[in-house]
Amino acid sequence: MDLQHLRPSREQDAPIYLQLYRRYREAIAAGKLRPGDRVASVRSLASELSLARGTVEMAYQMLVSEGYFVARGAAGTVVSPRLESLVEHNHARKSVAAAHASPHPQNISDVALPFQLGLPALDAFPRKTWARLAGRNLRMLEPETMTSADPAGYEALRRAIATYLGISRGIACTHEQVFITVGYRGALELVRRTLLQAGDLGWYEDPGYIFARQFLERAGMRLEPVPVDEEGLNVSIGQQRAAHARFAVVTPTHQSPMGVALSLPRRLELLDWAARSQAWIIEDDYDSEFRYHGRPLPALKSLDRDGRVLYTGTFSKVLFPGLRLAYLVVPTSQVGKFSDMANHLPGPGSILPQAMVAGFMEQGHFARHLRKMRILYAARRGYLVDALTQMMRESLHIQPQAGGIHVLANLNTNTRQSDKILAAAAQANCLAVQALSHWRLRKSTQGGLLMGFANFATADGATASVSRLKAVLAKL
Ligand SMILES: Cc1ncc(COP(=O)(O)O)c(C=O)c1O
Repeated sequence: MDLQHLRPSREQDAPIYLQLYRRYREAIAAGKLRPGDRVASVRSLASELSLARGTVEMAYQMLVSEGYFVARGAAGTVVSPRLESLVEHNHARKSVAAAHASPHPQNISDVALPFQLGLPALDAFPRKTWARLAGRNLRMLEPETMTSADPAGYEALRRAIATYLGISRGIACTHEQVFITVGYRGALELVRRTLLQAGDLGWYEDPGYIFARQFLERAGMRLEPVPVDEEGLNVSIGQQRAAHARFAVVTPTHQSPMGVALSLPRRLELLDWAARSQAWIIEDDYDSEFRYHGRPLPALKSLDRDGRVLYTGTFSKVLFPGLRLAYLVVPTSQVGKFSDMANHLPGPGSILPQAMVAGFMEQGHFARHLRKMRILYAARRGYLVDALTQMMRESLHIQPQAGGIHVLANLNTNTRQSDKILAAAAQANCLAVQALSHWRLRKSTQGGLLMGFANFATADGATASVSRLKAVLAKL
């Protein structure tokens, strides 16, 4: 293929790397590049089009991480042979639009790259029970399911969540306080629309959950980075830097991504600040169900005497992220305002998946699934930690974490490269580790690698992936 066809335009609004990425996708969709074709090296394309190598690298990384390209080390980078069926199908239909869809992989290894963050164990999901519930819900199809669509969510699910939170998270709430949302971002959107205004200032954990940060910034919020240490968010620094902030977003049970818990003194200090300054605390309790040492900590919301905490939970980690179901619990005093706003928003979508999750919880499958997953994840975490300790002790040390489904490996001081360079090299080889620095708002000298372990089904699987990682990093 003539490389000049890939030339990005300086006039366009889209960044150059994004244009390059799109040109490649278009070339694949149009059959100009076939599965298995070797693509130009980063160096030669950069020189041919007079672009910075970093720009080309970024486009290539996106194409690799989305499965369009496969990096084969010294053998170069090729268009993924797995696209074969997709391309043929598209050519048969002459539909360029369809060619932009991702292929539909059947195997877990096709969708969950080694170390991938944020995914639960896809092989351990109780599919049969789920299918049975789906069948029953479809067969019964009550008139209520066919007609009503409460914008706050399906009532049976809201009740099941309120009961679960009372038992497991120490939160006393009624179903009226629970709003079902489309993912955590749906919960943030409901909070933003109901209680915040564009330009409002909020504390954000540094480092903190990258996707919520991007979502809030795009929604016009201003974020003040507040450092996290071994006791979680440093509330005193927050007060020094932005005492009059309108909100704070926190992950108190298991800080994302550092894994520490917010200490009791800090919890009380944070609640006290919020009550004095009439600020809102958004508690993101995304994976508190998985804890391997000691008892699960009660939620911050359980200490909320002044009604300042907006509590959010998600089914993405405990069931699966494709469900897109999360929930928000609001203080009793705010139920009216939230209900009113929910009436004017699109709501949580179809009742059917909500009814299935409600049934799953009511019939005891949820509690059983969580018990099973705690044991499974403790073992899988062990596979990864053992492999890292045995093979990569010289360059990494594991940050002890009591829970969650990822580990943070800090870089030892003798590591010459930055975590961003290490993560980029790993990603280019289909190993989905992430750089801690990407999750920071302010620069720090402490680099680290974030690694998911939920889909390492065996010790051998973890060992094989860690040795691949070691080999990739050794070349740098
Ligand atoms: C810190 C954190 N919060 C919230 C979520 C849940 O997001 P969602 O419900 O949109 O899948 C995740 C998921 O990965 C997360 O890592």
